[in-house]
Amino acid sequence: MIYPIVKFGNPVLEKAAEKVSVFDEELKKLIADMFESMYAAKGIGLAAPQIGIPRRIAVIDVTFKEDPNAKLVLINPEIIHKEGRHSQSEGCLSIPEFRENVSRAQVATVRAQDMNGNLFEKTGDDLLARAFQHETDHLNGKLYLSHISAIKRDLIKRKIRKMVKAGEW
Ligand code: NI
Repeated sequence: MIYPIVKFGNPVLEKAAEKVSVFDEELKKLIADMFESMYAAKGIGLAAPQIGIPRRIAVIDVTFKEDPNAKLVLINPEIIHKEGRHSQSEGCLSIPEFRENVSRAQVATVRAQDMNGNLFEKTGDDLLARAFQHETDHLNGKLYLSHISAIKRDLIKRKIRKMVKAGEW
């Protein structure tokens, strides 16, 4: 099932999501639906709040279907180590049509559970490190807008308000 993507302005995106404690068939179905929804929206990462579900679940595929082994499920993720800085253009499915340079750690290690509840750690660099940080932020109610300057943030918010008024958001 493909869920519509929740856009900036919906309060679900700015609240911390709830910890997952039950690892059942319903969770596996939700994860499959999240991958389907992410691919349909042409994304490489999706957090559950972005489909209106405030639970600590994120899916990532930085290869966008090229490598089946690149599919990653992060449940209750935490960034446990960060190294270096790297600034790169970043977007978000919930803030379509906008991109900004965002400075993030170049290397990041995430500790998370898989869909069966098993704990694992994974280290990524560049785009994968960025995805770990971006998606974990989502689960803490944080968007990339909080990592850019207030001037740029206000400009984007103003443009979005105009689009809302015009019925284009
Ligand atoms: Ni996002």
